[in-house]
Amino acid sequence: MQKLEQVYEGKAKKVFATDDPNLFIVDYKDDATAFNGLKKGTIAEKGVINNRVTNHLMKLLESKGIPTHLVKELSDRETLVKKVKIVPIEVIVRNIAAGSLSKRLGLPEGTKLARTVLEYCYKDDELGDPMINDYHIYAMQLATSEELATIAAYSFKVNQILTDYLKDLGIELIDFKLEFGRLADGTIVLADEISPDTCRFWDSKTGEKLDKDRFRRDLGGVEDAYHEIMKRLLGE
Ligand code: TMP
Repeated sequence: MQKLEQVYEGKAKKVFATDDPNLFIVDYKDDATAFNGLKKGTIAEKGVINNRVTNHLMKLLESKGIPTHLVKELSDRETLVKKVKIVPIEVIVRNIAAGSLSKRLGLPEGTKLARTVLEYCYKDDELGDPMINDYHIYAMQLATSEELATIAAYSFKVNQILTDYLKDLGIELIDFKLEFGRLADGTIVLADEISPDTCRFWDSKTGEKLDKDRFRRDLGGVEDAYHEIMKRLLGE
């Protein structure tokens, strides 16, 4: 497998073409941003941890019937994935109130939600990823109703699988963000990453935050939190 030219650079990852037109290589960076890129920094070894944690969770999800873009981990920071066109919708799944939901609705962080909340945001950095609903999605033709039904069903299933898995590791899954992509034949698969950058993980016993909120909110102990997640998930 040959790594060819860079085709995309995001805030946390670079994507490279390969000599196989159906495959990309993702390369995870240590760069960290928050508030739509306004806050910038680095988190030492974040790229390695997010690569390995994402692949570990994607493998788990695949084994439970969720199709993903994962092909194979190539190195500490690089993973071979199926080439997809990302559906420009960020799906947020929430079990416990936190972050922007707490602000918007005046619900104290930590409030258990009586049922799981699904939110959609339009993936557009210039607009600051505004929240949208299914009517906007159809009006802007971001996804068909069949695709959105698949995306929502997968998102709820991912939530169930991850919540159960993390509970046994003493981690409460507060909320997280997913992105989906279309393969060349139109099949919807889970893409992007599932990591402390894109999830809120709280220690089940102490409530300690073990995710990117430590960076966003200047809580200190950022690297330790990322390492703790890798240790609990991968045993190292
Ligand atoms: P929020 O409470 O700030 O809306 O975040 C909800 C979840 O989505 C949280 O787990 C962090 C994740 N997230 C991202 O992965 N990328 C983003 O750009 C934002 C704003 C949130």
